Amino acid sequence: MLTFRNVSLRYEKKAPLVLRDIDFSLSAGECVGLLGRTGSGKTTILKLACGILDPTEGSVVIDDAPLTERKNADLLRHRVGLVMQYPERQLFSATVFDEVAFGPRNLGLSDAEVQERVHEALSTVGFVPNEIGSRNPFALSGGEKRRIALASTLALRPRVLALDEPFVGLSPSARHNLSAFLEGLYREGTSLLIATHAVDEIALIADQLLVMDAGTIALEGPPHRVFAAGNHEKLLALGLDAPQVTALAWRLRSRGLAISETIVNEDELIRELTRELGKRTARGAREPHQGDVREASA
Ligand SMILES: Nc1ncnc2c1ncn2[C@@H]1O[C@H](COP(=O)(O)OP(=O)(O)O)[C@@H](O)[C@H]1O
Ligand SMILES: [Mg+2]
Repeated sequence: MLTFRNVSLRYEKKAPLVLRDIDFSLSAGECVGLLGRTGSGKTTILKLACGILDPTEGSVVIDDAPLTERKNADLLRHRVGLVMQYPERQLFSATVFDEVAFGPRNLGLSDAEVQERVHEALSTVGFVPNEIGSRNPFALSGGEKRRIALASTLALRPRVLALDEPFVGLSPSARHNLSAFLEGLYREGTSLLIATHAVDEIALIADQLLVMDAGTIALEGPPHRVFAAGNHEKLLALGLDAPQVTALAWRLRSRGLAISETIVNEDELIRELTRELGKRTARGAREPHQGDVREASA
């Protein structure tokens, strides 16, 4: 539904290209994660996806219609909703209701439709609309403000939601909540394009990861392939940490435990460990003087 076809971009004439030949697509209901060190081009891709920037070469296509053709632009642009980095810094209304209603009102919807959209968006991010609606957004916690900002974009009912560093600056519990809301949206069919350094979170949600390096896609694939043990060196060179659970699995493998090289979530690791330890216990019972862990790593 959203396709980048050989997209290159420079910000100013004669300036160097900051993106070169970017080619990928996001299918309906899919989640794509953009990784890579600061300056590698993630935010620029999000701006192209929602039509804030036009490609220097190539095209960005939504539902087979190029974003750059004028007659398509207005119609198509709000199909992709962008939540910028630190969106809570752009809150400006006196009440939560007015904040989330701003976009739908600008679309010229009736009061009843505006109310419906605001309630739907606030519920989606975990609030009780009638409780939160009259509150002052500036009096909320950081995590709550971010959810309000997210609701403001959701109220436009985008089919693709693009998020720039959505986990940055949140407490662990707020990160966890946000992750759960994004998963909920994803399960209900919103496509997600997420630029992030938060490898633990993105590895659990994304169908595909694109690892950027100086404006090009250096590595791509589903999380369990990108974070396979064999990519350790490559990931380091790209400035990327593995998810904590993946790094732990790699260490256990290097100690000789026969654990899959493609672990990205805790349940997988627990399953593998249980199976591996079960084998050892069975072997230990048959051979009472052998079968300890040190023996296996020898
Ligand atoms: N408005 C701008 N004008 C000129 N250069 C920019 C602008 N925004 C970003 N850049 C440059 O484009 C490159 C990619 O930046 P960006 O997309 O923000 O990367 P990331 O989000 O991965 O940190 C960087 O070299 C950055 O300095
Ligand atoms: Mg960025």
